[in-house]
Amino acid sequence: MAELSRIGVAIDADLLTKFDDLIAERGYTNRSEAFRDLIRDELVEKSWEEPDSEVVGSVTLVYDHHVRMLNEKLIDMQHDYHHNILSTLHVHLDHDNCLEVLVVKGKAERVRKLADALIATKGVKHGRLTITATGADL
Ligand code: NI
Repeated sequence: MAELSRIGVAIDADLLTKFDDLIAERGYTNRSEAFRDLIRDELVEKSWEEPDSEVVGSVTLVYDHHVRMLNEKLIDMQHDYHHNILSTLHVHLDHDNCLEVLVVKGKAERVRKLADALIATKGVKHGRLTITATGADL
């Protein structure tokens, strides 16, 4: 771990109260860890804006597997991006609906393109890309 630096932050009292309430709700036991997480979150967001940066994330999809050719389309797309998909999890939620989670990795632009294509496929009811980082630079 890098050397710790201490900083002083001037902040409006009302804003600090709101921040303290928020972080208490989320289970933080001190402000420093909450600040660090906010900063890391911004750094991760920033890394995803650079098309060539190496990123990791997950794509969650919910779809009705009865929709014609949907399974085939989603699988074809995943094979086109097989270098970017580390693992997939498939859960049969009920008689009709499936939940799929893909762990994705690679250049930000390519990973986002894959996620957008999967989520936009007709028949996918809900989809979301969750962005994170390898942790090496955080
Ligand atoms: Ni299923």
